[in-house]
Amino acid sequence: MSHETYLLSRMDREDSHTLKGYQAQGGYKVFEKVLKEGMTPLDVTEEVKASGLRGRGGAGFPTGLKWSFMPDPEKDTRTRYMAVNADESEPGTCKDRVIMREDPHGLVEGCLLAAHAMRLDAVYIYVRGEYRLPYDRVFAAIAEARKAGLVGQNILGSDFSCEIHMHKGAGAYICGEETGLMESLEGKRGHPRPKPPFPAGFGLWGQPTTVNNVETIFNVPFILERGAEWFRGMGNEKSPGNFLCGISGHVEKPGVYELPLGMPARQVLEEYAGGVWKGRQLKAWIPGGSSTGFLKPDAIDTPMDHDSLKAAGSMFGTGAMIMLDDQASVVKSALVLMNFYDHESCGQCSQCREGTQWLSQIFQRLYDGGGRTEDIQLLTDLANGMAPGKTICALSDAAAIPTHSVVRNFKEELELYVQHGGHQGVLAARKLEGVGA
Ligand SMILES: Cc1cc2nc3c(=O)[nH]c(=O)nc-3n(C[C@H](O)[C@H](O)[C@H](O)COP(=O)(O)O)c2cc1C
Ligand code: SF4
Repeated sequence: MSHETYLLSRMDREDSHTLKGYQAQGGYKVFEKVLKEGMTPLDVTEEVKASGLRGRGGAGFPTGLKWSFMPDPEKDTRTRYMAVNADESEPGTCKDRVIMREDPHGLVEGCLLAAHAMRLDAVYIYVRGEYRLPYDRVFAAIAEARKAGLVGQNILGSDFSCEIHMHKGAGAYICGEETGLMESLEGKRGHPRPKPPFPAGFGLWGQPTTVNNVETIFNVPFILERGAEWFRGMGNEKSPGNFLCGISGHVEKPGVYELPLGMPARQVLEEYAGGVWKGRQLKAWIPGGSSTGFLKPDAIDTPMDHDSLKAAGSMFGTGAMIMLDDQASVVKSALVLMNFYDHESCGQCSQCREGTQWLSQIFQRLYDGGGRTEDIQLLTDLANGMAPGKTICALSDAAAIPTHSVVRNFKEELELYVQHGGHQGVLAARKLEGVGA
């Protein structure tokens, strides 16, 4: 079944990342129109609100509503910022890099429209340090746009001015959390801040700030060009538009696909990713990046949208699907994830600092063969102590959610690991039964 695409539509050209390539496809026209035909900041925010666009960085918060939290510039004359979150470190998630690498001017135009709507003085794009080519492409795009009078002082001869700066992260997942990101941008250790105060009131350097994901901002020029109604024609009522779905793991054709929100996960797996690889069966899948938890194959008909995945006991997150075949070990996968969260916890909150380490130790014990029956309950008790909302940021939740999902959906596998003395024992038992390696 074919569907309308827009997010990836300009990327076929060799020069899609250049100003020439972008303008040849109508780039910057909508920004010029907004500026020259006098669409007010409020009009732009209202159009984004009407579109129903939800943040693509994980929480799915309505973007227009978030923008309207910025204080009235007539009453609050502080400097105003937006930080674009290009840290993209959630395991499984690899969509923002495609935008930055192939269509960086689209992101720049989105930043300019957001800057007009929120009357920003400057935008900071915080890029994951490992993303060298995407960083270079966005950097070059900003330089080209500046030369063309689209960034900086008195843009296109108007009284609108906005700077766009870039910053490279240094490989810490926690710097993708919005307040950790701001601390890092300020040159400090990326320790998340307690909220409130929220960024719109006290953000970068204590000034009003909005934090948005790359894909979120990239949607904005399309919405302004084609209208909120057009956008609502894709996806579904509560989750409109298309999304970039990164699908990885044990599939024939892993990749980043543009799909309407609400497409059933089975269709994504079978029609786009070519099904489970090597003719095997699906054993488990994660719908929206590593923090959203493991689901069983019986949930594979769930539509990929915020409400449906919540009802299925998971989350849409970043829309990054990770698929595991019937020969994969859920215990091993959970162990890999817990090692990640243990390593990435910033250590400020004891529940998270100790909890992530203990979860990783328990999964390791189960994997190695020293697991005890009571460890299964211990995993639940620990995860209950870590989330929800018990810590400064949601990294603790991000470790607790997959843990709960393993106990809820794959308890039998945990019991097998206890019964057979770990991974080697489980493999030996499988061989006896003739079930592959
Ligand atoms: C531990 C942690 C890591 C995060 N990493 C990212 C990230 O890499 N990119 C991102 O856009 N959002 C990330 N988020 C979510 C951000 O805090 C924030 O909600 C998001 O950038 C807001 O943008 P949106 O409203 O456009 O989705 C992370 C959150 C947590 C708790
Ligand atoms: S929850 Fe974890 S990562 Fe977040 S602030 Fe607390 S210790 Fe740091």
